[in-house]
Amino acid sequence: MKKKILVTGGTGYIGSHTTVELIEEGFDAVIIDNLYNSEAGVVDRIHKITGVRPLLEVLDLCDLEKLDGFIQKHRDISSVIHFAAYKAVGESVNKPLEYYRNNLLSLVNLLSVMKRYGIPNLVFSSSCTVYGQPEKLPVTEDAPLQPATSPYGNTKQVGETIIRDTTVSDKNVRAISLRYFNPIGAHPSALIGELPRGVPENLVPYLTQTGYGIREELKVFGDDYNTPDGSCVRDYLHVVDLAKAHVVAIKRLIEGKNKANYEVFNLGTGNGVSVLEAIKSFERVSGIKLKYRIVGRRAGDIEKIWADPSFANKELGWKTLSSLDEAMKTAWDWEKILRSNKI
Ligand code: UD1
Repeated sequence: MKKKILVTGGTGYIGSHTTVELIEEGFDAVIIDNLYNSEAGVVDRIHKITGVRPLLEVLDLCDLEKLDGFIQKHRDISSVIHFAAYKAVGESVNKPLEYYRNNLLSLVNLLSVMKRYGIPNLVFSSSCTVYGQPEKLPVTEDAPLQPATSPYGNTKQVGETIIRDTTVSDKNVRAISLRYFNPIGAHPSALIGELPRGVPENLVPYLTQTGYGIREELKVFGDDYNTPDGSCVRDYLHVVDLAKAHVVAIKRLIEGKNKANYEVFNLGTGNGVSVLEAIKSFERVSGIKLKYRIVGRRAGDIEKIWADPSFANKELGWKTLSSLDEAMKTAWDWEKILRSNKI
């Protein structure tokens, strides 16, 4: 019998890539998504890649009654990977209540039904934003957390706390929080990738859209940081590498290999890359000279952060395999496919 895994937000960017990896590893993936920031057609493309069409239930996790009804029909779900959340940092500053309601109520509802129906395993989509600007780099999992600079970031911190407290109070619930650094790129098939709504906030979609001519120029937010070239430094990892980490984490819980009821892992490459280096990588893989301009700093930006992924390397047996250029190439291929209306 295939193990059934519930993927919330499974039609979204990271959720869809993870669903593909789960299916390819022999799991039965079922998706709950309210399609707020994604499209139902993603399941067709998952089907094209894997030969399997995962079940998609269009449902809002904030609706406890409907969620409960769904779980009652799928009592064989063994584990949950929880992606469904709002994720735009800037928007969260203007709509804090929407962010707290959506990101936290959905998590509380999910944990409630997991407890009610005895579903023991949860993998949570967290972020390196919980570290703020760390004093020591690369950042390890035991680095102190900093007060969040946006409601979005706070929902990740509070979300982690809610999960940890639940695992403390109920030994039947086991959870892993995965703190992502900066996921980029798309599936090598170019059938799934990031679908930003409107003007992208994140660097790589803005970069590829500028390369394609949809945006006039990329604005580089600051060149006066205390970094080698003055632009901010991040740890960009290929979304397929990130997706594979979820499969490893869910197997760890299912097989009972976890060392504690609640565990936290950094997921990154361990390499810091500046905005200007990311632009160079794009230029290398696309052959396009990118139009960009240095502008002032963006409010709330961290100067530099990259992961120490050694705990995940050792404990999960996971590491990133793709280089920056490989990941960037898939982001560019995806952008071209999207714009040629082949998707
Ligand atoms: C942010 C969040 C992170 C969240 C992620 C996805 C923080 C500190 N980080 O990451 O938690 O998971 O978004 O939504 O809140 N840049 C430009 N020009 C642009 C866009 C970006 O120069 O047009 C620069 C930024 O200044 C930054 C880097 O590119 O240095 C990466 O930015 P971005 O892709 O937005 O990710 P983060 O801010 O690192």
